[in-house]
This record gives sequence, structure tokens and C-alpha cells, in this order.
Amino acid sequence: HGTDMTTTQPRTQWLGRWGFVLAATGSAVGLGNIWKFPYMTGEYGGGAFVLVYLACILAVGVPVMMAEIALGRRGRGSPVDAVRRVVAESGRSGAWSLLGWMAMLCGFLILCFYVVVAGWSFAYLWKMLSGGLAGGSVEDMVAIFAANNASPWNLGLWSTLVTVATMVIVGKGVQAGIEKSVGWMMPGMVVMLLVLIVYGLFSGGFGAALRFLFVFDAGSLSGEGLLAALGHAFFTLSLASGAILTYGSYLPAGASIVRTSLTVAVADTLVALMAGLAIFPAIFANGMDPGEGPGLIFMSLPLAFQAMPLGTLFGVLFFAMLSMAALTSAISMVEATVSWLCDRHGLSRPAAAWGAGSVLWVISTLAMLSFNLGADWTLAGRHLFDWLDYLTSRWLMPLGGLGMALLAGFVLRGAPLREELGLTAGWHALWLFMVRYVSPLGILVVFVDALGLVEV
Ligand code: PHE
Ligand code: NA
Repeated sequence: HGTDMTTTQPRTQWLGRWGFVLAATGSAVGLGNIWKFPYMTGEYGGGAFVLVYLACILAVGVPVMMAEIALGRRGRGSPVDAVRRVVAESGRSGAWSLLGWMAMLCGFLILCFYVVVAGWSFAYLWKMLSGGLAGGSVEDMVAIFAANNASPWNLGLWSTLVTVATMVIVGKGVQAGIEKSVGWMMPGMVVMLLVLIVYGLFSGGFGAALRFLFVFDAGSLSGEGLLAALGHAFFTLSLASGAILTYGSYLPAGASIVRTSLTVAVADTLVALMAGLAIFPAIFANGMDPGEGPGLIFMSLPLAFQAMPLGTLFGVLFFAMLSMAALTSAISMVEATVSWLCDRHGLSRPAAAWGAGSVLWVISTLAMLSFNLGADWTLAGRHLFDWLDYLTSRWLMPLGGLGMALLAGFVLRGAPLREELGLTAGWHALWLFMVRYVSPLGILVVFVDALGLVEV
């Protein structure tokens, strides 16, 4: 191909006026909000982690999201092509296109462990339906979670199911399926979380949960916790992973980037905070350890569902919503790769989806084995599952986000992006200040602190 662009048809666009907002919200709201945010908050000590996370969303996440959507719409392509085009348009060094490659790779690697966790959610939906979550004690729930992981056939079945479902949807094309499903799933998720929060009010653990989430104790946050909060801000907003950038490439010309970015970020943050308020009362009421780790919601929520009126019904609905939310995020992680295979290599969408899906299946199956057959396969103390999470959240996303901010702030000098963002002079200056100084410095400080180079 060389460097000439082979796309000849006009790029597809979102259908409805709310298409992009729905799809981007579907990408953002997922296991990150309901599974990862609570267990990380538990692991890193509560309020201080939450505060740093919120600061990262505002100071780094929103400005970088605006930059990524603008880059995507300006470049009208997969991250690799979009970044290359916009960089070329500005006459700057092609080396910056590496950033597009990095983002695309990052999204794919996230998906390789994400399908395993989504598989947990589907497995728990099935357990809810079939009565497999009976048992009244914390010990019972710990045992059920362990048993679900212990069988490679069981776990592999669920993660394979998620992989296949993702590829079927992606193969069909992103617009119709995603736009429709997110439109009713998101309100449904909010209703389920409200049910859990109301139940939590009466469970005896609500006060403790509020204190844990919102009382700031500066001493409780390590440098590692800071980096975890920063990485999670990128993860939860689907940034630096090609997802938002690629979705932005389908954004119609007239849509406001700032308004959509804010809507997505606010919706994502509200769902995460609601998830915290839904989950921690159940944890404290049952005397569980908030630092339980990745199994946290799967061990605590079934207890709450068993104790509440109509619990089975609510439990089924909850895990159905969680599984849907996971799917709408999974789709967005591989969309960058699929659109790159289609645009640059002329593959049909189904061929691209199944090709990417095959590679995904091999890696995710190896990651799934971390929980059973491959329990001893570790490198520097981490399983493949942990490596995928660690590498993407602690390295690729913060560094990719730093790159995006610098690219938008300095390299492109704001010129092509200025047109896309269409902000008034004052707001544009503020955005530029954020991507030039606040976001990069924030990322650097957190990095340097986490690497233990300085004491903050
Ligand atoms: N934002 C998604 C979540 O919170 C995860 C995600 C990461 C999606 C990266 C796309 C890209 O679950
Ligand atoms: Na999220």
C-alpha cells in the first residue's frame, strides 16, 4: 500500500442524533465501573483513591477524550490511519503514528482479559437463573466463586461465548446493534443499581460504605494507588485504547465534541459512584474485607440478592445488565482493529471480525487458564491475566494518554483540532492549557511517584 490511503467510500456514520453518545456511553460504562472500580477502591483504601480518580477524570480524562474524538473525526479512520492522516495534514513527523498503533494494541490486549471477566458475569447470570447461588454465608460465596474458576471447561465455555457474541455483533457493523441496545440497557442498569442502593440503606452497612467511599484519608494512598487511579480513569473512559478515537471517526460533522465528551464522562462517573454505593453496604453488612480483590462483587452481591425481597428477579436482571454492559464495551475494544483490517487491508467486516476473534480466543483462553490449569504459570509473580491488566492499565494507557495530550497540545498546535472542537477562543485556550500542561504533568508526576523516583 505504501502511505496512500485506500479508503474510497465515505466513512459510515452513526445513525441517530444520539448515536455517538449512546455508543460511546456503551463503551465507557462496563465492567470497569461495576466490577473494577469497587474492588480497586477496596484495595487502595477508599476515599483517597476515589478523590484522585475523580480528579484524574476531570483534569486528564475529559481533555484527552476531546482530543481523541477530534482526532478520530478529523482523520476518519482507525487509530493507525486517523493519527497518521492528521499528523501528515499538519506536516509533522510520521513517528507520531506509533501512537495509533499503541492504542490499537492496547484495546486488543484489554479485550483479552475483559472477555474472561465478562464470562464471570454471564456465568453468574446463569447461576442466578438456575439457583446455583444458594448459600447463606460469605464462605459459601467465596467457595462458589472459586469453583467457577477452578474448571477450565466451565470458565472457557463462558469466555468463548463472550468472544463469539462480540464478534457476531462487530461483524454485523457497529451502528444499528450498538445504538439500539445501549438505549434501553443504560436506563436498566441505573434502575438495578438504585434497587441495590435502596436495599443497602436498610442493610446496616450504608453508613460504613459512605464513610469508606467519601471520607478522604490522605495517608491511605500510596504512589502505586495514585497510578492505579490514573490508569483506571483512562480505562473507565475507554481512552488511549483506540475505542473512543474509532467511535469518534464515525461522528457526524455537526455534532459538538465537548458536549458529547462531558455527557459520556458524567454518565460513566455516576454509574461508578452508584456501583460503589450499591456494593459496599453489602460488603460491610456482611463483615467482608473490601480488599477482597477481583472477586469482590461476585462474592458480595449474591448475598444481598438472597436477602432482599424479589432478590432472584433483581439478581437475574442485574447480571443480565452487567453482561450487556460488558458486551457493549468489548465491542468497542476490537472496533479499532476491525476497522483497520477493513480500511487498510480490504477485508469484509465479518472476515475482519473472525480473524481478530481467532487471535483473541487464543490469548484469552491462555489468560483464562491463569485461574486453573495454569495457576503456576507466572512471570515475575503475575499470571497472564494479571499481566494483561497491569500492562494496559499501568503502562500503555497512561503513556498513550500522555502521547495523545502532547500530540494534541504541541505537535498539532491545535490547528486541525481547533476546527473540529469548534470552541470559543476562551474555552479553546482552557482546553489547550489542559492538554499541554495539566494532563501531561499530572501523568508524569504520578508515574515518577509510582516508580519511586521521588517522594511526593
Ligand atoms: N470503559 C470500559 C469499562 O469501564 C472498558 C474499556 C476500556 C472499553 C478500553 C474500551 C476500551 O468497562
Ligand atoms: Na467505564
